[in-house]
Amino acid sequence: MSEPVNDPTARSGPPFRSAVVPAAGLGTRFLPTTKTVPKELLPVLDTPGIELVAAEAAEAGAEQLLIVTSPGKDAVAAHFADSSELEKELQSRGKDDLVAKVRRAHELIDVRTVTQDEAKGLGHAVGCAREAIGPDEEAFAVLLPDDLVLPTGVLATMAEVRRRHGGSVLCAFDVPRGEIAAYGVFEVTDTDDEDVKRVHGMVEKPAPDEAPSTLAAAGRYLLDRAIFDALDRITPGAGGELQLTDAVALLIEEGHPVHVVVHRGGRHDLGNPGGYVRAFVDFALEDPNYGPDLREWLASRLNG
Ligand code: UTP
Repeated sequence: MSEPVNDPTARSGPPFRSAVVPAAGLGTRFLPTTKTVPKELLPVLDTPGIELVAAEAAEAGAEQLLIVTSPGKDAVAAHFADSSELEKELQSRGKDDLVAKVRRAHELIDVRTVTQDEAKGLGHAVGCAREAIGPDEEAFAVLLPDDLVLPTGVLATMAEVRRRHGGSVLCAFDVPRGEIAAYGVFEVTDTDDEDVKRVHGMVEKPAPDEAPSTLAAAGRYLLDRAIFDALDRITPGAGGELQLTDAVALLIEEGHPVHVVVHRGGRHDLGNPGGYVRAFVDFALEDPNYGPDLREWLASRLNG
């Protein structure tokens, strides 16, 4: 385990260089679409969720995006590849605005892929990125592409918390107690910052009266590289999957500092059709082209 760093001046430069985006899951909740279309490419209005998350990673200062992908999901990496043929075609038609849209994913950030041969869980997926993360990188970010955390910027706060407290930093939302049974929930104690808590454990989907807090886990992690060693030492849980939260729990047990940043903003879960449709509608309502008509249609649909 690397030493916790408590001296805020001890770290300078970017807090992390690599952002891992696990995208090798089966996406069963979106079947039959995910037979051929990766869940991570489903559009939120017109842009795939994974591009939104790549933009967030780039904005936070990441230099490389490590997409964990599986043999049948080449389209995910293809979305970030050079598209000069299409760009030329659009240019010849005078569609400069579309050229910019098409180019964005390719220009955002350097993308590399690593392969997870079988969907053996989120922990296993993160472990697949190990060799692609430089030996000098003490920490790296993980962003789940089916989780939109809005407005963006929480990774910068998480990096600040790592500078202060060392160790690993996760992200949480404060949810109403009545809804807590749908989430992984943190067991925490306060720090001197209201929005930063020390984590002592995690409970998956607790009954509301048994939940240790109302802080639910979101898909953003800033992990010390000690996580790789922890992933080697945990055993697979339900369905033979290696859970990232089990590796985090092991680190906590061994005294590794883990904190959460409580994000006071919005969140969309793109991982299931119900959450996805909310995100789509939310983005569409904000859009100057589609928003006004949609608002009117929704109002009449709801009153009709
Ligand atoms: P999810 O559990 O939301 O995705 O994992 P899933 O397993 O693809 O979806 P369902 O449950 O079958 O509907 C969160 C993220 O982790 C990735 C997924 O691609 C998703 O982006 N993941 C999950 C992997 O990369 N590998 C895995 O083995 C599991």
